[in-house]
Amino acid sequence: MHNRNRPYLRCLDCQFDALRLIIQSFSKPGLIRLALCLIIVFPVAQASPPQAAIASAHPLATEAGFEILEKGGNAFDAAVAVSAALAVVEPAGSGLGGGGFWLLHRAADGKTVMLDGRERAPLEARPDMYLDEQGKPVPDKSINGALSAGIPGMPAALVHLSEHYGRLPLTTSLAPAIRYAENGFPIGKRHHRLLSFRVDILRRSKAASDVFLIEGNVPDVGTLLVQKDLANTLKQLATSGKKGFYNGDFAKKLVEGVRNAGGIWTLRDLSEYRVVERQPIQGFYRGIRITAPPPPSAGGVGLIEMLNILSGYDLQVVDESTRKHLIVEAMRRAYHDRERFLGDPDFVTIPLQRLISPNYAAGLRASIRPDRALPSDYLSHANLPEPDGENTTHFSILDKEGNRVSATLSINYPFGSGFMVPGTGVLLNDEMDDFAAQPGTANVYGLVGGQPNTIAPGKRMLSSMTPLFVEDAYRIGIMGTPGGSRIVSMMLLAVLDFAEGRTPESWVAVPRFHHQYLPDVIQYEPSGLTENEQAELKKRGHKLKAIDRRYGDMQAVLWNKSTNRVYAASDPRGEGLAKLK
Ligand code: DON
Repeated sequence: MHNRNRPYLRCLDCQFDALRLIIQSFSKPGLIRLALCLIIVFPVAQASPPQAAIASAHPLATEAGFEILEKGGNAFDAAVAVSAALAVVEPAGSGLGGGGFWLLHRAADGKTVMLDGRERAPLEARPDMYLDEQGKPVPDKSINGALSAGIPGMPAALVHLSEHYGRLPLTTSLAPAIRYAENGFPIGKRHHRLLSFRVDILRRSKAASDVFLIEGNVPDVGTLLVQKDLANTLKQLATSGKKGFYNGDFAKKLVEGVRNAGGIWTLRDLSEYRVVERQPIQGFYRGIRITAPPPPSAGGVGLIEMLNILSGYDLQVVDESTRKHLIVEAMRRAYHDRERFLGDPDFVTIPLQRLISPNYAAGLRASIRPDRALPSDYLSHANLPEPDGENTTHFSILDKEGNRVSATLSINYPFGSGFMVPGTGVLLNDEMDDFAAQPGTANVYGLVGGQPNTIAPGKRMLSSMTPLFVEDAYRIGIMGTPGGSRIVSMMLLAVLDFAEGRTPESWVAVPRFHHQYLPDVIQYEPSGLTENEQAELKKRGHKLKAIDRRYGDMQAVLWNKSTNRVYAASDPRGEGLAKLK
């Protein structure tokens, strides 16, 4: 059982809002708090971190980031290097053929922004493109092969990040990734396992088999993976920028390759692709400020909604089973709203302020009974497959100037669509499956999509990716994870652990449990629920399902301003590397 005593002094709940502080200081306790803040926080508030920190899912990607910091780059240059390196050394998770969300904080002027490099649907996409003649979804079509691929955002995002926020030229920040692709690197256990999972699909694509397989078979752990075509594509991106991917001969090659394999991309799809800078959304939980991605991520809205619901309870005084019951009930309600309201904000109207408002959460909280689970059927009806999948990637960076990056990147399912465009080394995503192929039906993660997330030409598909900044009076956390539909519940558990004063090593290791409204079941990894908690939750009417493998691959960094120490941690479930320098 965790020790729930806070091992630190909570000197104020409102560090971020000077006005609130001043108003509160008119009362006596407020005055004391203000004095404490001035003594404890303000003298160190201007300080920069003593060390830089990078946590990523692969040691070579973390090293690539430090290489660029040592060349004089800032966190944003390092983010370009880490993203590109992950595209090479963790091709199952993300890549130039995919997209992602990069949450940025620039220390010099305090600007916080999200780069939305999410894929978008091709202009020839139609709402019924993945349905059979009876109107039923055909999962193979939205998960495997060229037709399942959205228009990639990653190359455009790397260029945007470098040009608008970085200090070094792309030729420098992409150099480590180019080197890894050219010289090769030994494949690890995770790569091997995911390759075995997707081998049948990869065999359908000659270019992908030539790169990843040896005579059609999965190579042994330790085999060198060389990606010459990908190295050339990265070089072209480095020298020609965005047009080196989205225009000219390279774009023609992409479109031709995709269309020859049954896809529907056009040159216009590529030339029109734009990265969107979006204002992150913010929520507060017990004096902690959460900065999270707005739609088309469903994660920020869901997380803030869950935290708002949970703000009405003191989770530290209730027994552990009640605590987990309340967390699950919060998850159920937030995931239900995901289905009803969320989609691409450029296409659908989302009642964003309502969903993240504490008053709305209070209404939801009123429907929670401490002794009883609410069957999800009371919220709507469906019978759905279970979520599966383990992929995508996250990294967190803090540089010595205090710049921060929290980025979650994806090509969706392991090795994306399994289709590589011949002659490019670019493995395409299968992110189209993140749309609702039909309202009310589930995607590969069991997530039920609603009307707001149906397919339309040029629309971005809803995502669960939730890169975060989490801050209180003196701690700044940078965190995120892959994990499909479970991303948001993992981030909730990590934020609650942050709230209890623990360090990244603990956030990334927290035993996990998950509820996503439908299917109406609590999934939990080994050690996620004790036997007693299982019994107590069943008594309240919950259905449980044990997952035989631990899930997620969280990467986290913490800067504690009061001790001026930096920490970093990589999920013990993965093969990542967290390092300080
Ligand atoms: O954007 C999304 O929500 C998904 N494409 C993320 C997929 C993922 O995290 C896979 N990992 N298990």
